[in-house]
Amino acid sequence: MMWVTLLALFATSLLSEMVLGAQYDYGAYDPRRDDFRKGTFPDGFIWSTATASYQIEGAWNVDGKGESIWDRFSHTPGKVDRGDTGDVACDSYNKYREDVQLMKAMGLKYYRFSLSWPRIFPVGTRAGGVNQAGVDYYNNVIDELLANGITPMVTLYHWDLPQALQDRYGGWVNEALVQHYRDYATFAFQTFGDRVKYWITFNEPWAVCVAGYEMGFHAPGIQGSGNSTYLCGHTILKAHASAWHSYDQTFRSVQGGQVSITLSCGWTEPFDPDLPADVIAADRDLQFQMGWFAHPIYTSQGDYPPAMKDIILQKSLAQGFQESRLPQFTAAEIASISGTYDFFGLNHYSSGIAMDKVSTGQDPNFWTDQDLESTVAPEWPQAASSWLYSVPWGIRRLLRYIKQNYNDPEIYITENGWSEEEADPPILEDTGRLCFYMGYINEVLKAIDLDGVNVRAYTAWSLMDNFEWAEGYTERFGLHSVDFTDPNRPRTPKQSVSFYKDVIANNGFPEGADVTTMVRNMWEECRGGPAGWAAATRANVGLLALSFLVSAMYFLNM
Ligand code: BGC
Repeated sequence: MMWVTLLALFATSLLSEMVLGAQYDYGAYDPRRDDFRKGTFPDGFIWSTATASYQIEGAWNVDGKGESIWDRFSHTPGKVDRGDTGDVACDSYNKYREDVQLMKAMGLKYYRFSLSWPRIFPVGTRAGGVNQAGVDYYNNVIDELLANGITPMVTLYHWDLPQALQDRYGGWVNEALVQHYRDYATFAFQTFGDRVKYWITFNEPWAVCVAGYEMGFHAPGIQGSGNSTYLCGHTILKAHASAWHSYDQTFRSVQGGQVSITLSCGWTEPFDPDLPADVIAADRDLQFQMGWFAHPIYTSQGDYPPAMKDIILQKSLAQGFQESRLPQFTAAEIASISGTYDFFGLNHYSSGIAMDKVSTGQDPNFWTDQDLESTVAPEWPQAASSWLYSVPWGIRRLLRYIKQNYNDPEIYITENGWSEEEADPPILEDTGRLCFYMGYINEVLKAIDLDGVNVRAYTAWSLMDNFEWAEGYTERFGLHSVDFTDPNRPRTPKQSVSFYKDVIANNGFPEGADVTTMVRNMWEECRGGPAGWAAATRANVGLLALSFLVSAMYFLNM
């Protein structure tokens, strides 16, 4: 009987290996997984904070700036909570010097921000003219940062496409945007690249395409189920590669900088880790979130992940399409996209649990393409944002997954953060955020020290409360509070500022430092109840039970 079971186990693992390709090794459950780890980060580790143009700048129609799709979207009634807009936002167009001082006071040496494409090319094209006032603004921001010892990391596209390109081409579904994006990126390299050495081509293409072209709750507000979503991704991958090559061919040798993309991904745990179908479903979830863009760029074989290609083809044919709704790359395109990176930019916030569930839906749809059902564990603390749960160990698993599946790249965490609700008076004792950062940063340290993951940077989202897209100002992600009712938009540090400042000053959590004392005092409170994630993973519950049994037997001298 025993050998039949062993054979079955072997066959199952072989099967999942074949289906998954590079499979994630979940490892044995470690009851000390959530323990605090003391120690410092590698020398030269990058501590940063981030913002994005539309979320902070304001000045939406000032000094020659063109309209963006987010200007149009937020001015359309019913699109953003309470009708909030980014017209003024944090007014960083006027207050950037003050922002730089906030960073300096925290000891930050890096800052990630984005350029507004229509502030530079008002109608989106080089031929349509350059807005010199916009160029001046970014020159001033960059110079102010450098004068204060802060290195700029610049995102070229954080969602505010020139409206003119939306009107003329229908946005990212149209290949014409590849050349226009390349022109814009090349102009930015030419103009700012003497001082900017870190470039991010796109922030979160998943969010751009799923929220903007599938579900429509972000600009440009298209509900294009299961079709335009993949077209959008296709164009963005080509545009990214084209910009990377432009830098590589023309600027790299002179400017010596680095160019990559930032992908968003939550961690996904299988509902039942003993069930191969759930394990494959959890991996499929990661493929649809991250592999969609990471596989073409970060693997040597390139192209979309087999898991996506197969399932979308099957679904498309069953729905009566002649070919897959996932567009195909030519061999030349695959080759020109593969390897277009200098680091792996990662935005990570939350985790989920996936279960295999075949969908029989006849309507093409990005979600039903995935054949899975997602849930969360009841004990995971939830932020003000409906999708955001604190699961610190999730970031460690994800980092290890990236190391294993994408050629052990240098990983730059370009966003990680926590939201609380808008409140009057505002919440300055932001314990939830402090605990979130404490837990997540500590897990990043474990990923480096224990798993050998090559993490080079950690970036807190965000420097200050800002325009949280469709939620307007109702959700607050800032280390600093901003009073949006005051025309001066005053900024006030929250409690988490002092925590992050200490982490930066100590390069982590060395024994004897204030930050370690703070962790020691707050660790249990932060963990908020029973440690772990037992409800979600039966196997681990089993192991836990077994370890209790063994200790009980030990104590009872059995
Ligand atoms: C985006 C930010 C956003 C944050 C919180 C990220 O996906 O890049 O712009 O504010 O998440 O929702």
